[in-house]
Amino acid sequence: MTETIYILNGPNLNLLGTREPEIYGSQTLDDIAAMLEARGEELGLTIEMRQSNHEGHLVDWLHEAQAESAKAVLLNAAAYTHTSIALLDAINAISVPVIEVHLSDPASREEFRHNSYVSMAAADVVQGLGAQSYIVALEKAAAL
Ligand code: DQA
Repeated sequence: MTETIYILNGPNLNLLGTREPEIYGSQTLDDIAAMLEARGEELGLTIEMRQSNHEGHLVDWLHEAQAESAKAVLLNAAAYTHTSIALLDAINAISVPVIEVHLSDPASREEFRHNSYVSMAAADVVQGLGAQSYIVALEKAAAL
């Protein structure tokens, strides 16, 4: 049986491709999913890619990753990164390692993006590499 990596994406990431392409690039979330599937296959990993605009879905899926004994979670919580104690608590509540992912580099953007609740519990962070952030994070997850 191959190991599974959950890749969880938060609000507005369903609009990638048309959403502020100067910041987030022109690839859609489906394009990124296809890249992750291909790299996952090379690494012998099963990819479970999800997106929701609702905070509670992300909490539920973190719990599911634990229940399903996932190898790791890649989490781009988008704006909830900067606001969600519920996500911080969920990451602390599970033993599956969570790698935080961002397309942009929040640290070099507006002040309100500098705080990350996800970072307080994440095993690692990959940001600022565009879609490639997800691939680097997947490779880190494979090496865990
Ligand atoms: C993001 C960065 C967040 O600050 C922002 O709210 C997003 C996307 C990124 O991938 O660069 O929605 O997580």
